[in-house]
Amino acid sequence: MIVKPRIRGFVCITAHPVGCTAKVQREIEVAKAARQSGGPKKVLVIGASTGYGLSSRIAAAFGSDAATLGVFYERPSLKGKPASAGWYNSAAFESAAHTSGLYAKSINGDAFSTEVKEQTIDMIKADLGQVDLVIYSLASPRRTDPASGETYRSCLKPIGGTYTNRTLDTDKAQVSDITIDAATKQEAEDTVKVMGGEDWELWMQALAQAGVVAQGAKTVAYSYIGPEITWPVYTNGTIGAAKKDVERAAAAITAQYDCDAYVSVNKAVVTQASSAIPVVPLYISILFKIMKSKGTHEDCIEQTVRLFNQRLYGGDLQLDESGRIRIDDWEMEPEIQAAVQEIWPEISSETLIELSDFTGYQKNFLNLFGFAIEGVDYDVEVEVDVPVPSIS
Ligand code: NAI
Repeated sequence: MIVKPRIRGFVCITAHPVGCTAKVQREIEVAKAARQSGGPKKVLVIGASTGYGLSSRIAAAFGSDAATLGVFYERPSLKGKPASAGWYNSAAFESAAHTSGLYAKSINGDAFSTEVKEQTIDMIKADLGQVDLVIYSLASPRRTDPASGETYRSCLKPIGGTYTNRTLDTDKAQVSDITIDAATKQEAEDTVKVMGGEDWELWMQALAQAGVVAQGAKTVAYSYIGPEITWPVYTNGTIGAAKKDVERAAAAITAQYDCDAYVSVNKAVVTQASSAIPVVPLYISILFKIMKSKGTHEDCIEQTVRLFNQRLYGGDLQLDESGRIRIDDWEMEPEIQAAVQEIWPEISSETLIELSDFTGYQKNFLNLFGFAIEGVDYDVEVEVDVPVPSIS
């Protein structure tokens, strides 16, 4: 069929298999160009199909020949409809890894469940013995607690007061004011339950107890801090409370198991998760313009390559005062942040294109779903039923 983008708000409900393959291939080339010895060898990536998790998997496999096992929750093609982007990304990744002689298998299911944890452990035991790196890169709006069976929903709200700021309707290219009411205590607690560190701890507990974590292994979960303008809705909001809990979990994991657990604070990039956050896409559009003009712009793959090569395996962690890895360092440079602050009051629907890189943001967003990729002919019929080789 001929697949075109069908955008609904901040999601695109179609994905292009050939475009996703081309995007994965581009990331593979970046990882290969930065090849370095001494990296991870057997890697489990939880949330491996898009965004930071996918790039982590690519950086490990093609940057240091690692065997990778990826866990994700994606939609295969059904009744002739396109699969989700993460499905096509994973199909493309596995095929490329196998062509290069690398071990790559995937599990498609709910990472929060006990069943998927058990399935993962069985696969590690059968194929890899142990893993030396576990990347935790889930972004989900809901989680069913495996113990109680109760489903919790996360929300993106301020805590303690109402927040008003400019936001961007990325579909309509309109800048307007948004007012978000403070979260209730319950909403804040539920967000911690979904996006906090509990599930990461459950993963590490299950893996350690099964004996599949190599001695001295590393595990990393991703976090974000960002600029003060977004703090009320991010860092000091419900999601920030969850990220604090991830930091708590890192210390608990390091203390309990024979591995080093880190939180890596990453740069703002366009992903399915970040496009859903109020205010953040507007900030990202401005940030991209400034970082591109300074030559310091990075996407997920450049970030994860730098995280692996320089920090995790380059002997230069550069932890901050809270013990976190800061690969958001270039984003947070005072000069960059001052430039964003200068533009912020001037931004409107009329000035959006001139003062920000909204054009780049939109292209980046379409790229997530395999669209707007150079060299891909979108008028040609494509097969949408593409298998992920290790998933029958
Ligand atoms: P994303 O939406 O691109 O990826 C989420 C991944 O989680 C996908 O692989 C998806 O299949 C998987 N997933 C979601 N629910 C699942 C479930 N129940 N079971 C199994 N897999 C599931 O998100 P993104 O942006 O890459 O986020 C990953 C992490 O990076 C998050 O912790 C996020 O807070 C963090 N981060 C993101 C930044 C950004 O600007 N996008 C910046 C800094 C940190």
